[in-house]
Amino acid sequence: MSVQDQLESTIKALVQDGKGILAADESSPTIAKRFAAIAVESTEESRRDYRSLILSTPGLGQYVNGVILFEETLTQTDSQGTPLPDVASNQGIVPGIKVDKGKVPLANAPGDEITRGLDGLEARLESYIGRGARFAKWRCVYHVAGHNPGRLAVEANANVLASYAAVCQSLGVVPIVEPEVLIDGDHSIERCADVMESVLHEVFHALHRNRVALEYMLLKPSMVTPGKDHPQQASPEQVATATLQIFRRTIPAAVPGINFLSGGQTPEEATRNLNAINGLKNRPWNLSFSYGRALQEPALTAWRGDPGRVQAAQQALLHRARMNSLAARGQYSDDQEQDTAWEL
Ligand code: 13P
Repeated sequence: MSVQDQLESTIKALVQDGKGILAADESSPTIAKRFAAIAVESTEESRRDYRSLILSTPGLGQYVNGVILFEETLTQTDSQGTPLPDVASNQGIVPGIKVDKGKVPLANAPGDEITRGLDGLEARLESYIGRGARFAKWRCVYHVAGHNPGRLAVEANANVLASYAAVCQSLGVVPIVEPEVLIDGDHSIERCADVMESVLHEVFHALHRNRVALEYMLLKPSMVTPGKDHPQQASPEQVATATLQIFRRTIPAAVPGINFLSGGQTPEEATRNLNAINGLKNRPWNLSFSYGRALQEPALTAWRGDPGRVQAAQQALLHRARMNSLAARGQYSDDQEQDTAWEL
């Protein structure tokens, strides 16, 4: 298959009405933090057990069309010896891979950070492709506080996101471009909107300079919300209106899909907000989810490392995936949270 055909078929698989992407690409320190919250030690084995449980959830492929994995998971197998990426693809879920190497302070920009990982990216991508990865993810973060993010951080992070996306596409790998305006802090929704507008303008300028084909990428942004410590929290309708206003100003209609991160919203909040976004008019893109915590938190709590609770954990994951699938179609309501007809 030509590079163009590969990009085309992966985008087709990842952009489907009512389906979204599961982010299960927590780095080793992050998964250790998530496991600590349920009193489970993070070892190669416990990570493999948990991720096999997630990927083998019966029926998950009805609501989820892609999964972002961490490098280690690409090399692990389930208890029957099936490689974990195959466990996902066997139920119609396309495996992808987080390729950035995390963030570090940005020199001469106090309070701002830059994401690393461009060195050797091509060689790493070649090996990930060999293990079944068809798309990739790179996350940049923007702190909102005082003068942050500064101009330097906005430009430098846009440049790395665009360079990464160009390298991915040259190898037939669909890039997910993830600029996350962090929810931490006490800023207002208006301030978040201003930051998001500058960030997205800069990201799309850089993508254009790097000749990235917008038709073969996905955007994974945060929503426009107040900081989590702001005294006035916003309704789903306010979040939806503010988010879409900024998106219409900055994101070309050629981008096929936008898959939100959850970024510290509660599972129900992330679902309600996505549903409200899909209830508004004038949306030229498919708007869906690529949640990590908002999909996995209830499953982790149900599991607690107990092999006897695997089915309960899978049920919890399937439920959230179904709720978000409804939200991706604008068909979610709070009553559906009680609907147990779908239990495993
Ligand atoms: P959250 O949904 O937990 O923010 O994770 C999404 C993600 O992939 C962060 O990089």
